[in-house]
Amino acid sequence: MQVLDGQALAKKIRACIKEEVQRIVQMGKRPPGLAVVLVGDDPASQLYVNMKEKACRQVGMYSKKLLLPADISEAELLDNIGALNEDEKIDGILVQLPLPNGLNEHIVNENINEDKDVDGFSPVNFGKLHLGIKGFEPCTPKGIIRLLKEYGIQIRGRHAVVVGRSNIVGKPVAALLLRENATVTVCHSKTENLAEYTSKADILVSAVGKPHMIKKDMVKEGAVVIDAGTSKVDGKLYGDCDYEEMVDKVSWITPVPGGVGPMTIAMLLENTLEAYKRHVLKNTDSQ
Ligand code: GUN
Repeated sequence: MQVLDGQALAKKIRACIKEEVQRIVQMGKRPPGLAVVLVGDDPASQLYVNMKEKACRQVGMYSKKLLLPADISEAELLDNIGALNEDEKIDGILVQLPLPNGLNEHIVNENINEDKDVDGFSPVNFGKLHLGIKGFEPCTPKGIIRLLKEYGIQIRGRHAVVVGRSNIVGKPVAALLLRENATVTVCHSKTENLAEYTSKADILVSAVGKPHMIKKDMVKEGAVVIDAGTSKVDGKLYGDCDYEEMVDKVSWITPVPGGVGPMTIAMLLENTLEAYKRHVLKNTDSQ
């Protein structure tokens, strides 16, 4: 078994982004800017938002954090997003999900300018993903594909099984795997006899958020296992897959933490830099 070290790859990517941001600033241009919006005070979301903001500052980007109350009206939230759409220092806007009850994430995502939608959740970018048109790709799925490619793992022609059909991971990762010419099966909470599918996966991607729900007897010998699920139990972080149990059976596996999570943040920075280039360096040499 070998570990797919998302932490190490993310570090490498962040270092490249930092160098590029330095070059941009040395040219006398403004740095790329990311706005992170958190509505409410969910502790897990607070942690993610702080990590994203910190990563942004570490690579020299401008970062703006908006903390909004859970009882904010939809109109007021949309006003805040409208202001960020107009803000010339901001290239990327991220609204942390899930939103508190009563706020509709689809309406929020529809109101983020397509060219600032670094999460890739707006209907236009999500549609482009499925049409095979270049747009912003959601960060976790993009990070998973990058990790597989970096380690030279063949995707083409292999059977990829995705467990979970969320808009954040399951659906977009299935689309990206399909684009990479995998044969893709998507399983979800209503799938009967889940193990029948997971045990046939050459590449298994789990994105559910149920601690250790995927056991050793549910995976194929030599499979590649990507664990994109995280859940906290008594302060300890668990993945969807029982890593210790299956570690000797599979060929590659991502740890939790240190696998997919750091890649999500690295891809967010990459998308923000890309958005910046579209805004500022459109018709000039970016070097
Ligand atoms: N919640 C969990 N993952 C994500 C993500 O990648 N982006 C946003 N906006 N919210 C999330």
